[in-house]
Amino acid sequence: MDHFLYRGGELFAEEVAISEIAAKVGTPFYVYSTATLTRHYRLFDEALEGMPHLVCYAMKAASNQAILKVLAGLGAGMDVVSGGEYARAKAAGVPGDRIVFSGIGKTRDEMRLALLGGVRQFNIESEPEMAVLSEVAAGMGVTVPVTVRVNPDVDARTHAKIATGKSENKFGIPIARARAVYARIAALPGLEAIGIDVHIGSQLTELEPFRQAYEKVAELTELLRADGHDIRRLDLGGGLGIPYERSNQAPPLPTEYGALIRQVLGHLGCEIEIEPGRLIAGNAGVMIAEVIYVKSGEGRDFLILDGAMNDLIRPAMYGAHHDIIPVIEPAPGIEQQPYDIVGPVCESGDTFARARMMPPLKGGDLVAFRGAGAYGAVMASEYNTRPLIPEVLVNEHQFAVIRPRPTYDEMINRDKIPVWLNDPPC
Ligand code: LLP
Repeated sequence: MDHFLYRGGELFAEEVAISEIAAKVGTPFYVYSTATLTRHYRLFDEALEGMPHLVCYAMKAASNQAILKVLAGLGAGMDVVSGGEYARAKAAGVPGDRIVFSGIGKTRDEMRLALLGGVRQFNIESEPEMAVLSEVAAGMGVTVPVTVRVNPDVDARTHAKIATGKSENKFGIPIARARAVYARIAALPGLEAIGIDVHIGSQLTELEPFRQAYEKVAELTELLRADGHDIRRLDLGGGLGIPYERSNQAPPLPTEYGALIRQVLGHLGCEIEIEPGRLIAGNAGVMIAEVIYVKSGEGRDFLILDGAMNDLIRPAMYGAHHDIIPVIEPAPGIEQQPYDIVGPVCESGDTFARARMMPPLKGGDLVAFRGAGAYGAVMASEYNTRPLIPEVLVNEHQFAVIRPRPTYDEMINRDKIPVWLNDPPC
């Protein structure tokens, strides 16, 4: 459920008409709902009730400071994968002991940043990384809690570009090597192994792959404990999918996911961490664009929008489906027609949907891309020198721009001309 609904014939974000935001901010833009973010965070938190746990929002999904503040205010931890994300989490007021540092290529500088500012744990992804973290932490005279991300060789049955739990993927340490790796950690200064980490992929639409992975983690927990390691925390990653197509069967709910965790891992008495990103932010945001032209082609009509692949890359990159709905509610029973929905970028890949059935639309009409809150704004670029589009946050009847659209001058002035190009030729 989200808070983008038609009221009196037009789309609202909570209590605010989308058309009102569009008039103030201009299109295209992203708009997020505080109520939906809150609801989704709480669904996870409640699903794990009764087990010690922390929901660490995977902020790669949407990392605007205002969004982080909403979630941090509810008690969320953060899963970060770069020094930049760590700095963003800290800037939003998240205490270090609620920040989990994931990612397969952490640099020494990133490690130092988090060790200085405080960190809940590092999730180690390789043996070379383990050695470097030991050296950096010991050099700073600290001992840092760590988990090892194990690769359970489980098929997440999701899009190949976002599956991470098979042995051919670059992530984690093969689970068969885990005991040897934990033994090495025990012998290294600066590291204390406190748990196990696993993340098998994103946009999972069934629970079975999670079950397979978590059963392997349960077994490994027992083995490592028998080896003398005090395994007391399990980081189970993110990955629960969202319903991108309203007409399709919905993925499992956080309550079902929580029940699975309890069933497979509850008896171990570990503190549970999860790292959901998409399910918290995805349906908490929509992208609004305006129809610039309707162009009749051969055997098809194109809806040319002012939003493009640089603003929302998921369809071009993953062939992803986003429901696209008109901001003015279509009259009941109105006949729909197929459109190819495209942006203005100079690539044929800049296509959001082909032969999508829509009510008749004309230049000036607004459309909303549903499910755009996660991996939308964060993956945007300024390709074609198109300014990054604004982000807006709604809270009941209020709205605020939480990232303004840069001006052309701001964009251009980021470039610096080397002196030899400035000097007049003599
Ligand atoms: N934890 C780790 C270690 C991850 O790599 C990810 C996502 C998450 C948590 C959060 O997963 P989620 O709950 O959001 O599924 N750009 C792609 C998605 C990439 C996901 C990368 N890792 C997309 O637009 O579909």
